[in-house]
Amino acid sequence: MDYICPEIRDDFAAVNRLVIERLHSEVALVESIGHYIVEGGGKRMRPLVTVLAARALDYAGGRHVDLAAVIEFLHTATLLHDDVVDVSALRRGRATANANWGNAPSVLVGDFIYSRAFQVLVDIGDMDILRLMSDTTNRIAEGEVEQLARAGDPATTEAQYLQVIGKKTAVLFAAAAEGAAILAGSDAATRAAMRAFGMHVGLAFQLIDDVLDYTGDPAVMGKNLGDDLAEGKPTLPLIHALANAPEHEAARVRRAILERDASELAAVVATVQHCGALDYARATAIRHRDAALAALAGLTASAFRHNLATIAELAISRSS
Ligand code: IPE
Ligand code: IPE
Ligand code: MG
Ligand code: MG
Repeated sequence: MDYICPEIRDDFAAVNRLVIERLHSEVALVESIGHYIVEGGGKRMRPLVTVLAARALDYAGGRHVDLAAVIEFLHTATLLHDDVVDVSALRRGRATANANWGNAPSVLVGDFIYSRAFQVLVDIGDMDILRLMSDTTNRIAEGEVEQLARAGDPATTEAQYLQVIGKKTAVLFAAAAEGAAILAGSDAATRAAMRAFGMHVGLAFQLIDDVLDYTGDPAVMGKNLGDDLAEGKPTLPLIHALANAPEHEAARVRRAILERDASELAAVVATVQHCGALDYARATAIRHRDAALAALAGLTASAFRHNLATIAELAISRSS
Protein backbone atom coordinates (compact mmCIF):
# COMPACT_ATOMS: atom_id res chain seq x y z
CA MET A 1 0.00 0.00 0.00
CA ASP A 2 2.11 2.80 -1.35
CA TYR A 3 -0.28 5.51 -0.15
CA ILE A 4 0.65 5.03 3.51
CA CYS A 5 3.50 7.12 4.90
CA PRO A 6 6.12 5.27 7.00
CA GLU A 7 5.21 7.39 10.07
CA ILE A 8 1.89 5.57 10.48
CA ARG A 9 2.87 2.03 9.48
CA ASP A 10 2.81 0.83 13.10
CA ASP A 11 -0.57 2.42 13.80
CA PHE A 12 -1.95 0.94 10.61
CA ALA A 13 -0.68 -2.55 11.48
CA ALA A 14 -2.26 -2.15 14.93
CA VAL A 15 -5.61 -1.25 13.32
CA ASN A 16 -5.50 -4.34 11.11
CA ARG A 17 -4.63 -6.54 14.09
CA LEU A 18 -7.47 -5.08 16.13
CA VAL A 19 -9.98 -5.58 13.32
CA ILE A 20 -9.15 -9.29 13.20
CA GLU A 21 -9.02 -9.64 16.99
CA ARG A 22 -12.38 -7.97 17.56
CA LEU A 23 -14.13 -10.07 14.92
CA HIS A 24 -14.01 -12.91 17.39
CA SER A 25 -17.22 -14.89 17.93
CA GLU A 26 -18.02 -18.29 19.36
CA VAL A 27 -20.21 -18.94 16.32
CA ALA A 28 -18.17 -20.37 13.48
CA LEU A 29 -20.29 -18.86 10.69
CA VAL A 30 -19.74 -15.35 12.06
CA GLU A 31 -15.99 -15.88 12.01
CA SER A 32 -16.00 -17.49 8.56
CA ILE A 33 -17.90 -14.64 6.91
CA GLY A 34 -16.20 -11.96 8.99
CA HIS A 35 -12.70 -13.16 8.13
CA TYR A 36 -13.66 -13.75 4.52
CA ILE A 37 -14.70 -10.14 3.98
CA VAL A 38 -12.00 -8.53 6.11
CA GLU A 39 -9.18 -10.61 4.65
CA GLY A 40 -10.47 -10.01 1.13
CA GLY A 41 -8.42 -6.82 1.32
CA GLY A 42 -9.88 -3.42 0.82
CA LYS A 43 -8.06 -0.13 0.64
CA ARG A 44 -8.68 0.80 4.29
CA MET A 45 -9.16 4.43 3.24
CA ARG A 46 -11.50 5.37 6.08
CA PRO A 47 -9.41 4.02 8.99
CA LEU A 48 -6.38 5.65 7.38
CA VAL A 49 -8.16 8.98 7.53
CA THR A 50 -8.74 8.48 11.24
CA VAL A 51 -5.15 7.54 12.01
CA LEU A 52 -3.69 10.30 9.85
CA ALA A 53 -6.04 12.97 11.16
CA ALA A 54 -5.33 12.01 14.77
CA ARG A 55 -1.59 12.22 14.16
CA ALA A 56 -1.87 15.40 12.12
CA LEU A 57 -3.65 16.95 15.11
CA ASP A 58 -0.91 15.78 17.51
CA TYR A 59 -3.05 13.26 19.34
CA ALA A 60 -0.73 11.43 21.72
CA GLY A 61 -2.99 8.63 23.02
CA GLY A 62 -3.86 5.25 21.54
CA ARG A 63 -7.61 5.35 21.11
CA HIS A 64 -7.37 6.43 17.46
CA VAL A 65 -6.48 2.81 16.67
CA ASP A 66 -9.74 1.63 18.26
CA LEU A 67 -11.73 4.32 16.49
CA ALA A 68 -10.14 3.41 13.15
CA ALA A 69 -11.12 -0.24 13.69
CA VAL A 70 -14.69 0.88 14.47
CA ILE A 71 -14.79 2.87 11.24
CA GLU A 72 -13.59 -0.12 9.21
CA PHE A 73 -16.15 -2.36 10.94
CA LEU A 74 -18.97 0.01 10.06
CA HIS A 75 -17.74 0.15 6.48
CA THR A 76 -17.52 -3.66 6.35
CA ALA A 77 -21.02 -4.10 7.74
CA THR A 78 -22.44 -1.70 5.15
CA LEU A 79 -20.66 -3.65 2.38
CA LEU A 80 -22.21 -6.93 3.55
CA HIS A 81 -25.64 -5.34 3.55
CA ASP A 82 -25.04 -3.34 0.37
CA ASP A 83 -24.10 -6.41 -1.68
CA VAL A 84 -27.33 -8.10 -0.65
CA VAL A 85 -29.39 -5.04 -1.54
CA ASP A 86 -27.51 -4.51 -4.83
CA VAL A 87 -27.51 -8.25 -5.66
CA SER A 88 -23.76 -7.96 -6.28
CA ALA A 89 -21.70 -11.07 -6.97
CA LEU A 90 -18.12 -9.74 -6.83
CA ARG A 91 -16.36 -7.74 -4.07
CA ARG A 92 -12.65 -7.30 -3.36
CA GLY A 93 -11.88 -9.59 -6.26
CA ARG A 94 -13.88 -12.53 -5.07
CA ALA A 95 -17.40 -13.82 -4.72
CA THR A 96 -19.47 -11.70 -2.34
CA ALA A 97 -20.55 -13.19 0.98
CA ASN A 98 -24.13 -13.27 -0.27
CA ALA A 99 -23.04 -15.19 -3.36
CA ASN A 100 -21.15 -17.69 -1.22
CA TRP A 101 -23.37 -18.08 1.85
CA GLY A 102 -26.67 -16.47 0.86
CA ASN A 103 -28.48 -13.31 1.85
CA ALA A 104 -29.57 -14.22 5.36
CA PRO A 105 -26.08 -15.00 6.73
CA SER A 106 -24.71 -11.83 5.10
CA VAL A 107 -27.34 -9.61 6.66
CA LEU A 108 -27.00 -11.20 10.08
CA VAL A 109 -23.20 -11.12 10.13
CA GLY A 110 -23.45 -7.50 8.98
CA ASP A 111 -25.58 -6.87 12.08
CA PHE A 112 -22.99 -8.64 14.22
CA ILE A 113 -20.20 -6.44 12.88
CA TYR A 114 -22.31 -3.28 13.28
CA SER A 115 -23.04 -4.03 16.89
CA ARG A 116 -19.45 -5.11 17.56
CA ALA A 117 -18.41 -1.66 16.38
CA PHE A 118 -20.63 -0.13 19.05
CA GLN A 119 -19.15 -2.41 21.72
CA VAL A 120 -15.72 -1.06 20.82
CA LEU A 121 -17.11 2.48 20.90
CA VAL A 122 -18.37 1.95 24.42
CA ASP A 123 -14.86 0.79 25.37
CA ILE A 124 -13.49 4.03 23.91
CA GLY A 125 -15.88 5.67 26.34
CA ASP A 126 -16.30 9.15 24.86
CA MET A 127 -19.89 10.38 24.66
CA ASP A 128 -19.14 12.87 21.84
CA ILE A 129 -17.68 10.09 19.73
CA LEU A 130 -20.57 7.78 20.56
CA ARG A 131 -22.98 10.52 19.46
CA LEU A 132 -21.03 11.14 16.27
CA MET A 133 -20.96 7.46 15.37
CA SER A 134 -24.59 6.74 16.18
CA ASP A 135 -25.65 9.76 14.09
CA THR A 136 -23.38 8.56 11.31
CA THR A 137 -24.69 4.99 11.14
CA ASN A 138 -28.25 6.25 11.31
CA ARG A 139 -27.55 8.61 8.43
CA ILE A 140 -25.92 5.87 6.33
CA ALA A 141 -28.93 3.61 6.80
CA GLU A 142 -31.23 6.48 5.87
CA GLY A 143 -29.15 7.16 2.74
CA GLU A 144 -29.33 3.54 1.65
CA VAL A 145 -33.11 3.56 2.07
CA GLU A 146 -33.38 6.86 0.21
CA GLN A 147 -31.31 5.39 -2.61
CA LEU A 148 -33.55 2.35 -2.69
CA ALA A 149 -36.59 4.59 -2.93
CA ARG A 150 -35.00 6.41 -5.90
CA ALA A 151 -33.97 3.25 -7.74
CA GLY A 152 -35.81 2.97 -11.03
CA ASP A 153 -36.67 6.68 -11.00
CA PRO A 154 -35.18 8.58 -13.96
CA ALA A 155 -36.64 11.85 -12.61
CA THR A 156 -34.05 11.87 -9.81
CA THR A 157 -32.22 15.21 -9.78
CA GLU A 158 -28.53 15.88 -9.32
CA ALA A 159 -29.28 17.49 -5.95
CA GLN A 160 -31.17 14.40 -4.81
CA TYR A 161 -28.30 12.19 -5.97
CA LEU A 162 -25.75 14.30 -4.09
CA GLN A 163 -27.88 14.09 -0.97
CA VAL A 164 -27.95 10.29 -1.21
CA ILE A 165 -24.19 9.90 -1.67
CA GLY A 166 -23.56 12.42 1.09
CA LYS A 167 -25.49 10.18 3.45
CA LYS A 168 -24.52 6.72 2.30
CA THR A 169 -20.80 7.35 1.78
CA ALA A 170 -19.48 10.78 2.73
CA VAL A 171 -20.68 10.90 6.33
CA LEU A 172 -18.49 7.91 7.23
CA PHE A 173 -15.40 9.65 5.85
CA ALA A 174 -16.51 12.78 7.71
CA ALA A 175 -16.86 10.84 10.96
CA ALA A 176 -13.47 9.21 10.39
CA ALA A 177 -11.85 12.65 10.33
CA GLU A 178 -14.05 14.44 12.87
CA GLY A 179 -13.75 11.57 15.35
CA ALA A 180 -9.99 11.99 15.29
CA ALA A 181 -10.41 15.71 16.02
CA ILE A 182 -12.62 14.88 19.00
CA LEU A 183 -9.99 12.47 20.35
CA ALA A 184 -7.31 15.11 19.87
CA GLY A 185 -9.38 17.67 21.79
CA SER A 186 -9.34 20.06 18.83
CA ASP A 187 -11.21 23.36 18.85
CA ALA A 188 -14.55 23.73 17.05
CA ALA A 189 -13.02 25.27 13.93
CA THR A 190 -10.52 22.44 13.50
CA ARG A 191 -13.21 19.88 14.12
CA ALA A 192 -15.40 21.49 11.44
CA ALA A 193 -12.47 21.62 9.02
CA MET A 194 -11.78 17.92 9.52
CA ARG A 195 -15.44 17.12 9.02
CA ALA A 196 -15.48 19.16 5.81
CA PHE A 197 -12.36 17.34 4.63
CA GLY A 198 -14.05 13.97 5.15
CA MET A 199 -17.32 15.02 3.53
CA HIS A 200 -15.59 16.29 0.40
CA VAL A 201 -13.30 13.27 0.12
CA GLY A 202 -16.32 10.99 0.55
CA LEU A 203 -18.33 12.79 -2.13
CA ALA A 204 -15.40 12.67 -4.54
CA PHE A 205 -14.88 9.01 -3.68
CA GLN A 206 -18.47 8.00 -4.43
CA LEU A 207 -18.68 10.13 -7.58
CA ILE A 208 -15.65 8.27 -8.93
CA ASP A 209 -17.11 4.96 -7.78
CA ASP A 210 -20.16 5.74 -9.86
CA VAL A 211 -17.98 6.57 -12.87
CA LEU A 212 -15.99 3.36 -12.43
CA ASP A 213 -19.21 1.37 -12.45
CA TYR A 214 -19.36 2.24 -16.19
CA THR A 215 -15.70 2.47 -17.16
CA GLY A 216 -13.62 0.47 -14.70
CA ASP A 217 -11.76 -2.76 -15.21
CA PRO A 218 -13.47 -5.46 -13.13
CA ALA A 219 -10.16 -7.30 -12.70
CA VAL A 220 -8.64 -4.18 -11.08
CA MET A 221 -11.76 -2.95 -9.29
CA GLY A 222 -12.61 -6.34 -7.84
CA LYS A 223 -16.29 -5.52 -8.54
CA ASN A 224 -18.47 -6.11 -11.57
CA LEU A 225 -19.37 -3.31 -13.97
CA GLY A 226 -23.02 -2.47 -14.53
CA ASP A 227 -24.26 -3.29 -11.03
CA ASP A 228 -25.66 0.24 -10.74
CA LEU A 229 -27.54 -0.01 -14.04
CA ALA A 230 -28.93 -3.43 -13.13
CA GLU A 231 -30.39 -1.85 -9.99
CA GLY A 232 -31.75 1.14 -11.93
CA LYS A 233 -29.58 3.50 -9.83
CA PRO A 234 -29.82 7.04 -11.16
CA THR A 235 -26.18 8.00 -10.55
CA LEU A 236 -24.69 11.23 -11.89
CA PRO A 237 -23.41 9.78 -15.20
CA LEU A 238 -26.99 8.74 -16.04
CA ILE A 239 -28.63 11.89 -14.68
CA HIS A 240 -26.34 14.02 -16.85
CA ALA A 241 -26.84 11.78 -19.89
CA LEU A 242 -30.63 12.00 -19.58
CA ALA A 243 -30.39 15.77 -20.01
CA ASN A 244 -27.55 15.93 -22.54
CA ALA A 245 -27.48 12.85 -24.77
CA PRO A 246 -29.27 12.76 -28.14
CA GLU A 247 -32.96 11.95 -27.61
CA HIS A 248 -32.91 8.30 -28.78
CA GLU A 249 -29.94 7.58 -26.52
CA ALA A 250 -31.49 9.38 -23.57
CA ALA A 251 -34.60 7.27 -24.14
CA ARG A 252 -32.50 4.10 -23.87
CA VAL A 253 -30.95 5.31 -20.61
CA ARG A 254 -34.40 6.19 -19.25
CA ARG A 255 -35.70 2.74 -20.16
CA ALA A 256 -32.71 0.98 -18.54
CA ILE A 257 -33.32 2.90 -15.29
CA LEU A 258 -37.07 2.31 -15.33
CA GLU A 259 -36.72 -1.38 -16.08
CA ARG A 260 -33.58 -1.87 -13.95
CA ASP A 261 -32.09 -3.60 -16.92
CA ALA A 262 -28.36 -3.78 -17.71
CA SER A 263 -28.75 -5.74 -20.94
CA GLU A 264 -27.85 -2.60 -22.95
CA LEU A 265 -24.87 -1.72 -20.74
CA ALA A 266 -22.45 -1.38 -23.68
CA ALA A 267 -24.70 1.16 -25.41
CA VAL A 268 -25.22 3.08 -22.17
CA VAL A 269 -21.44 3.16 -21.59
CA ALA A 270 -20.97 4.60 -25.08
CA THR A 271 -23.61 7.25 -24.37
CA VAL A 272 -22.23 8.40 -21.00
CA GLN A 273 -18.79 8.55 -22.57
CA HIS A 274 -19.50 10.61 -25.66
CA CYS A 275 -22.19 12.93 -24.27
CA GLY A 276 -19.76 14.19 -21.63
CA ALA A 277 -21.57 12.68 -18.65
CA LEU A 278 -18.51 10.86 -17.31
CA ASP A 279 -16.39 13.99 -17.72
CA TYR A 280 -19.04 15.97 -15.88
CA ALA A 281 -19.11 13.49 -12.98
CA ARG A 282 -15.29 13.46 -12.84
CA ALA A 283 -15.19 17.27 -12.87
CA THR A 284 -17.69 17.33 -9.99
CA ALA A 285 -15.47 14.89 -8.08
CA ILE A 286 -12.43 17.06 -8.73
CA ARG A 287 -14.20 20.09 -7.26
CA HIS A 288 -14.82 18.10 -4.08
CA ARG A 289 -11.21 16.93 -4.03
CA ASP A 290 -10.13 20.57 -4.22
CA ALA A 291 -12.49 21.52 -1.40
CA ALA A 292 -11.07 18.66 0.68
CA LEU A 293 -7.53 19.92 0.10
CA ALA A 294 -8.60 23.44 1.04
CA ALA A 295 -10.01 22.13 4.32
CA LEU A 296 -6.50 20.92 5.26
CA ALA A 297 -4.97 24.37 4.87
CA GLY A 298 -5.25 25.31 8.54
CA LEU A 299 -3.37 22.24 9.80
CA THR A 300 0.32 22.42 10.61
CA ALA A 301 2.37 20.97 7.76
CA SER A 302 3.48 17.39 8.47
CA ALA A 303 3.91 14.01 6.85
CA PHE A 304 0.43 13.21 8.17
CA ARG A 305 -1.24 16.22 6.57
CA HIS A 306 0.57 15.43 3.36
CA ASN A 307 -0.72 11.87 3.47
CA LEU A 308 -4.28 13.11 4.06
CA ALA A 309 -3.90 15.11 0.84
CA THR A 310 -2.72 11.91 -0.89
CA ILE A 311 -5.91 10.18 0.25
CA ALA A 312 -7.97 12.99 -1.30
CA GLU A 313 -6.03 12.57 -4.57
CA LEU A 314 -6.54 8.82 -4.46
CA ALA A 315 -10.31 9.30 -4.24
CA ILE A 316 -10.03 10.72 -7.77
CA SER A 317 -7.16 8.80 -9.35
CA ARG A 318 -8.07 5.35 -8.11
CA SER A 319 -8.93 2.54 -10.47
CA SER A 320 -9.96 0.18 -7.68
C1 IPE B 1 -16.77 0.68 -1.48
O1 IPE B 1 -15.79 1.32 -0.74
C2 IPE B 1 -18.10 1.29 -1.15
C3 IPE B 1 -18.23 2.67 -1.57
C4 IPE B 1 -18.53 3.63 -0.78
C5 IPE B 1 -18.06 3.00 -2.97
P1 IPE B 1 -14.24 1.04 -0.97
O2 IPE B 1 -13.90 1.21 -2.42
O3 IPE B 1 -13.48 1.86 0.00
O4 IPE B 1 -14.12 -0.49 -0.61
P2 IPE B 1 -12.86 -1.32 -0.10
O5 IPE B 1 -12.92 -1.29 1.38
O6 IPE B 1 -11.60 -0.69 -0.63
O7 IPE B 1 -13.09 -2.70 -0.66
C1 IPE C 1 -21.72 2.10 -1.49
O1 IPE C 1 -22.52 2.18 -2.56
C2 IPE C 1 -22.44 1.47 -0.33
C3 IPE C 1 -22.40 2.24 0.91
C4 IPE C 1 -21.72 3.30 1.06
C5 IPE C 1 -23.20 1.79 2.03
P1 IPE C 1 -22.31 1.32 -3.85
O2 IPE C 1 -23.37 0.30 -3.94
O3 IPE C 1 -22.12 2.23 -5.02
O4 IPE C 1 -20.93 0.61 -3.57
P2 IPE C 1 -20.31 -0.56 -4.38
O5 IPE C 1 -20.14 -0.08 -5.78
O6 IPE C 1 -21.26 -1.70 -4.24
O7 IPE C 1 -18.98 -0.79 -3.70
MG1 MG D 1 -23.24 -1.73 -4.13
MG1 MG E 1 -20.72 1.41 -6.81
